[in-house]
Amino acid sequence: MKKAILAVSFGTTYHNTLEKTIAAIEADLAAAFPDRTLRRAFTSGMIIRRLKERDGLAIDNVAEALERLAAEGFEDVVLQSTHVMNGDERDKMMAQAMPFASRFTRLSIGSPLLTETEDYFAAAKALLERLPQQQEDTALVYMGHGTEHYANAVYALLEYVLHDLGRRDIHIGTVEGYPGFAEVCRRLEETQNVKNVVLLPLMVVAGDHANNDLAGEEEDSWRSMLVKRGYAVRCVLEGLGENPAIRAIFVRHAKEAAGE
Ligand code: CO
Repeated sequence: MKKAILAVSFGTTYHNTLEKTIAAIEADLAAAFPDRTLRRAFTSGMIIRRLKERDGLAIDNVAEALERLAAEGFEDVVLQSTHVMNGDERDKMMAQAMPFASRFTRLSIGSPLLTETEDYFAAAKALLERLPQQQEDTALVYMGHGTEHYANAVYALLEYVLHDLGRRDIHIGTVEGYPGFAEVCRRLEETQNVKNVVLLPLMVVAGDHANNDLAGEEEDSWRSMLVKRGYAVRCVLEGLGENPAIRAIFVRHAKEAAGE
């Protein structure tokens, strides 16, 4: 039986982070499933269009990738999301995938990063492995994407788990949802003696939001706004996909989906 694994990512137009994050997750999935052909799909139509127009690079959306696999005679396909949450992008992935259920003998779906409670503990530990030790005058601030989707609640639970593991110096805010920058600032003010802030993206890729909204030179980047408030700011532009222990969570989810 011909078997495949389709890695489904939001996508990015930054080639550098693409290689270090999405491609790294795909490489780990390929290594964990030597009997499956690995394919790539993106859920962001905007990014697929931009890569095509700017770089002449063709990347499938989920429907196109599944159509191709079905046409090539694949019978067993694992769809592994590399999204952070069960939000809009995951919904889009499912909507595009469901019409193909009858085209394969087996089509199984692997969960995004933060799905079950154990995922939050695994992700928190993966983050802590690479973070600096707790220091009295320093706070760590993660910038998540944020969404109107009810999955936005993931950020509060992840922060809770980090605090529960003893790291109350870590705060999570989002660019496009709640909690936002204002709530993060209030947390920083509530904590005594914070002079330094380490800013990190809580996103699989360190792409547009990380380079502009987080670390950009513009006045309204989080870095600029924190500097203006008197903090010494250091940005760590590393996507979650660069962390091997984070990638291992996606691999575990794919194994669970495949029933292996
Ligand atoms: Co965005």
